[in-house]
Amino acid sequence: MAARKPLIAGNWKMFGRQESLSEIKALWTLVESVSANVDALICPPSVYVSQALWGARGTGVVIGAQDCSAAAEDSARTGEVSAAMLADVGAKYVIVGHSERRAFHAETDEVVHRKAAAALAAGLTPIICVGETQAERTAGRVAEVVSAQVRASVPEGNSAVVVAYEPVWAIGGNSTPTIPEIAEVHALVRDTLKERFGDEANGIRILYGGSVGPKNAAEIFGAEGVDGALVGRASLKAADFAAIILGHPAAK
Ligand code: PGA
Repeated sequence: MAARKPLIAGNWKMFGRQESLSEIKALWTLVESVSANVDALICPPSVYVSQALWGARGTGVVIGAQDCSAAAEDSARTGEVSAAMLADVGAKYVIVGHSERRAFHAETDEVVHRKAAAALAAGLTPIICVGETQAERTAGRVAEVVSAQVRASVPEGNSAVVVAYEPVWAIGGNSTPTIPEIAEVHALVRDTLKERFGDEANGIRILYGGSVGPKNAAEIFGAEGVDGALVGRASLKAADFAAIILGHPAAK
């Protein structure tokens, strides 16, 4: 089995303006030397995806999107952007099932599954997000909740996916699970993926997300089974995001 190449993905959420796109080239100058060993991905708001692709030309920074329609076919869906459209302009990845989509847009595992399937059908790699709330962790339900989300959100029959474990309570805050806790959930996610894909699941990258920054990235990357990170706030500035990427052991 080929080793999994680490993926460090930046999720800009609903932040940034056109001028922020200059961060992409700035990022490349900082991480080019390690790009053979670590994949760097930026997911700007959808309105900026094309421009980001233009801004990233000549660099190895990969561009993705933060969401796509669950409808795989062109259809009357005012305001929606399809996975095929994102692939058409050159995006390579799309985040689906982020906890903010699940919370603010009532996305269920079933919707996330359809979005991931639409992404795969369009040739995009879906980054499928799962993770427990604080109440679920306190109640000792992490394994039950996360494995159920993986089973219901990851489409059958195609292991060309990325899974991001993002504890909801760790997003946008200052606390993260401990390193053993992160490793435990990553092992659980992989075991759950093995039920579906068998040994092929060993090729799937599992990212950690939630309050990853320059200060804690290297420690988190050292956790068993962590194949990279999904980074929110700290991905907006090239210097911070580069520091995270350069903190990966594969970048040494
Ligand atoms: P954060 O966000 O890095 O700002 O905690 C992570 C995410 O929501 O993907």
